[in-house]
Amino acid sequence: MASSMVSGVEKLIRVAPAALGFSGSDLHGKHFPKLGLVSCAGNGVNIRARSKIPVLRCSLAESRPPSQPRFIQHKKEAYWFYRFLSIVYDHVINPGHWTEDMRDEALEPAELTSRNMIVVDVGGGTGFTTLGIVKHVDAKNVTILDQSPHQLAKAKQKEPLKDCKIIEGDAEDLPFRTDYADRYISAGSIEYWPDPQRGIREAYRVLKLGGKACIIGPVHPTFWLSRFFADMWMLFPKEEEYIEWFQKAGFKDVKLKRIGPKWYRGVRRHGLIMGCSVTGVKPASGDSPLQIGPKAEDVSKPANPLVFLLRFVLGAMAATYFVLVPIYMWLKDQIVPKGQPI
Ligand SMILES: C[S@@+](CC[C@H](N)C(=O)[O-])C[C@H]1O[C@@H](n2cnc3c(N)ncnc32)[C@H](O)[C@@H]1O
Repeated sequence: MASSMVSGVEKLIRVAPAALGFSGSDLHGKHFPKLGLVSCAGNGVNIRARSKIPVLRCSLAESRPPSQPRFIQHKKEAYWFYRFLSIVYDHVINPGHWTEDMRDEALEPAELTSRNMIVVDVGGGTGFTTLGIVKHVDAKNVTILDQSPHQLAKAKQKEPLKDCKIIEGDAEDLPFRTDYADRYISAGSIEYWPDPQRGIREAYRVLKLGGKACIIGPVHPTFWLSRFFADMWMLFPKEEEYIEWFQKAGFKDVKLKRIGPKWYRGVRRHGLIMGCSVTGVKPASGDSPLQIGPKAEDVSKPANPLVFLLRFVLGAMAATYFVLVPIYMWLKDQIVPKGQPI
């Protein structure tokens, strides 16, 4: 994985195979080694590892190569995608990719340690992740923000979320003041942001000094067919890209925890829609040290209807592949004897 280079600044990072791969226990420690935890402190990059660490060269991207079409990675495309997907999101889509036990594991590094914390859930959608947040934090202190009114309508129907603030907004341009929140959470949304670095910079800005951001998102496949469909659909970042975006935004103590559905037995070659939970701590109050230009895209930006439709249909077709992958992996999990790799 680390050897598949993306364009941009090259940086030497130490990568422990145990930290970046699974080769022995499943996600609950039965058959594969424990979840990898990649930790990046300050400018240096440390990987927590138990054994000797080979040094791999990882290329860290300025941005993703434009050659990949990614048909549904723009705000208007994501808006329409969720116009339809919101109807089946909780009951049909999530069970294959984003289960309650995965959610709870992914939220652990966010350290939701007090009911009084101010929390923002960005790209909070139907509130599936927010349901995990309000187990630890009073709902009245939690704001769910999303650009899709259709997704938010589902969140509004959930009883445990009735005291949350629910607002429409853009992850790349948050309507919160600087130094506002104790925790910034965003699950499964970064893949639709045209400029992920801008979104992570916003996460930094809205957090208080010592506040923590936790971004849960996809990881890029290595198997060729899965990579083809992933790159047609949306942004599947590489692990090192998340780390670079966090560091550039100014976060310290950046860590990456691997997650995945338990029936995958740790397999990551097909990529994962929810593949990692990345956290970072804001070390100083105020705005991010990273200066970037004005926002490039808005959900209300006009688009050529024919081009839009073509992109949308192709993107939705590519997304269908990832509805089938969890079913395929589930069948393999049923067939292959426990304890063996699949
Ligand atoms: C896969 S859903 C995740 C929903 C929820 N966080 C969860 O864990 O189930 C992705 C969500 O991100 C939202 N989204 C996409 N781009 C966005 C943006 N630029 N600003 C705010 N929300 C966005 C979508 O509308 C959608 O509700």
